[in-house]
Amino acid sequence: MMSTAAPDPVELLAWYAEMGVTEALDETPHDHFMEAPQPAATRPAPPQLVRATAAAARPALPATATAPDDAALTARTMAQQATTLDELKEALAQFEGCALKATAKNLVFSDGNPAARLMLVGEAPGADEDRIGLPFVGRSGQLLDRMLAAIGLNRKEHVYIANLLPWRPPGNRTPTPQEVAICLPFIQRQIQLANPDILVCIGAPSAQGLLGLTGILASRGKWLEYDTGTRRIRAMATLHPAYLLRQPLQKRLAWRDLRALKAALDAKT
Ligand code: URA
Repeated sequence: MMSTAAPDPVELLAWYAEMGVTEALDETPHDHFMEAPQPAATRPAPPQLVRATAAAARPALPATATAPDDAALTARTMAQQATTLDELKEALAQFEGCALKATAKNLVFSDGNPAARLMLVGEAPGADEDRIGLPFVGRSGQLLDRMLAAIGLNRKEHVYIANLLPWRPPGNRTPTPQEVAICLPFIQRQIQLANPDILVCIGAPSAQGLLGLTGILASRGKWLEYDTGTRRIRAMATLHPAYLLRQPLQKRLAWRDLRALKAALDAKT
């Protein structure tokens, strides 16, 4: 017989977190099943009025926020105008064309050494990264650090790390193609300004967004050329540490990629 006991709150919270429900939307819980249907005249405002009220609390978004093509164009212009990584970070802080900014706590721009020969680009910040404002600081990041250490690299000296998207998608959902298109000019400019010798895209969205690769399991570990706009550099896609945490047996594939990366770095010293 099925148990009707109330669920253990700790287990329930863990289950919510696993399902990606990591944000409370309101101070008090509402049982919407218990709420009596209201007559039409007193129904809550339709969604567009709710959005307008929320928008009033923050600076008005430029027209770009509602037109993805225009937003990507604005992003391109702002990114091109930045001539240093600091200016690019400031440009991103000013950019209002991506809705992810509204739900994120922090802009997550980069970590590591901007002068490093190796640049890593992940997908997007998770909850820990969003809270702290640095990429790859949660469980995935700790695994990434261990993987780098296995080939003698550390993030402070040997790598420059960023993400395809600098704001956390709510609940860690996969970024939409529109969000990627809007943010792409910024990460492309970030790569150009950091000017690494080698680019490694971590995970499928980064591999697809920057290298045009689909099917990460088949395309990982292969050397390609990436045109930064000022020169051609070597680039490779590899598996995301979050995936490796779920599928530890696949670490052997990541290890192959790491060895290839180490050989490429050693060949050019
Ligand atoms: N996953 C990513 O792709 N990037 C981060 O910064 C953290 C987790």
